[in-house]
Amino acid sequence: MKSHARLLAMEEGKDPKTGNAAKIFPLKVLQFFLMFLFTGLACSLASIYTLRYFGEQNVAPLAKSAFLPCFEEPNKLERWIKPPSNLMHPMNDTELLWRASLVPQIKDYPFERTPKIAFMFLTRGPLPMAPLWERFFKGHEGLYSIYVHSLPSYVADFPPSSVFYGRQIPSQEVEWGMMSLCDAERRLLANALLDFANERFVLISEACIPLRNFNTIYDYLMNSRHSFMSVYDDPGPCGRGRYNWNMAPLIVLEQWRKGSQWFEVNRRLAVDIVKDTLFYPKFREFCKPVCYNDEHYFPTMLSMQSPQLLANRSITWVDWSRGGAHPATFGQPDITKEFLMRIIHGENCTYNDQQTNTCFLFARKFAPNALDPLLELASEVFSF
Ligand SMILES: *[C@@H]1O[C@H](CO)[C@@H](O)[C@H](O)[C@H]1NC(C)=O
Ligand SMILES: *[C@@H]1O[C@H](CO)[C@@H](O)[C@H](O)[C@H]1NC(C)=O
Ligand SMILES: *[C@@H]1O[C@H](CO)[C@@H](O)[C@H](O)[C@H]1NC(C)=O
Repeated sequence: MKSHARLLAMEEGKDPKTGNAAKIFPLKVLQFFLMFLFTGLACSLASIYTLRYFGEQNVAPLAKSAFLPCFEEPNKLERWIKPPSNLMHPMNDTELLWRASLVPQIKDYPFERTPKIAFMFLTRGPLPMAPLWERFFKGHEGLYSIYVHSLPSYVADFPPSSVFYGRQIPSQEVEWGMMSLCDAERRLLANALLDFANERFVLISEACIPLRNFNTIYDYLMNSRHSFMSVYDDPGPCGRGRYNWNMAPLIVLEQWRKGSQWFEVNRRLAVDIVKDTLFYPKFREFCKPVCYNDEHYFPTMLSMQSPQLLANRSITWVDWSRGGAHPATFGQPDITKEFLMRIIHGENCTYNDQQTNTCFLFARKFAPNALDPLLELASEVFSF
């Protein structure tokens, strides 16, 4: 009886339970389903809100964000200030110059910024002085960036350990004396401007060498109140004689200037050069050989726009004393300690309105066979 009753109870207990469960089960599924629906709805609302809110503040590709999970990390500042990791890009010159002309309107940077020197190598192909430069840059990572513009047909083969490895920028044909030369210089400046840390911009040729060690050059440039663009008014046939009256009234004869192609400018002047659309067409059209626009375009434009920012002298030593269309090139027999000391301290000039005999930080032109004697004398004469 007892066991039967228990069995009955179990059965009784079981039956009603199963009956109840059958009624309750769809309700639980419904509850769960509703909860799921609510979570989903909340997520969608959150992501719509996020998109609206942040979408207005930046130009991030919205289509991409729409596929990201609910709680996406908002756009970090690093994204805007990190220099491009790969110097090759698909931008054409119009796009590149536009991109490089974007300038923050707030002067103070909201992040730790160590200013760098951008060394812009304008070359045809190989860099015969590379071993000297490698020694010069050694140990100063983070204080410089390198950009190389060579002829497009040239394939650079620097090993990964080299400071020049991967530093080639998208390049185009350059005809010396033509506007394509100034185009290449603006292309170098524009690529270098993409890195917010670059503050001073030096144009270097394959025949250039540094005359001082890195720290000396860094301090000299960073503390200078002026940019080193050589600017002068040459009344002769190679100066004013190259002026074209079609440039008036934008440029009148009295404003026409000449200077060396090998300049050094600060960030502000670098932007002024890449953003120019006013002077550019005049020089492209009315300054063709025997007018060499690389000797007139930037000197004339900058001395009209920002004369107070210019030192009016070059920091790249060159020897025109032999006459002719090209400056002297120095090879192995020329390289002596006396010769180099004469370049380094042979002239007086002003620096931040003070007299100094440190006028030159770089020198040209040096033949490839000058490399070995230069490497031998570098530590004694150049201190690196
Ligand atoms: C670069 O591309 C843009 C858009 O296609 C075009 O308008 C511009 O003319 C191009 N610039 C050059 C220099 O090719
Ligand atoms: C360079 O020349 C300009 C005039 O073109 C002048 O205003 C400026 O002060 C000069 N710079 C220096 C450092 O003397
Ligand atoms: C540079 O200035 C110093 C001191 O004023 C003078 O002794 C020296 O002769 C000058 N050098 C040159 C090359 O003019």
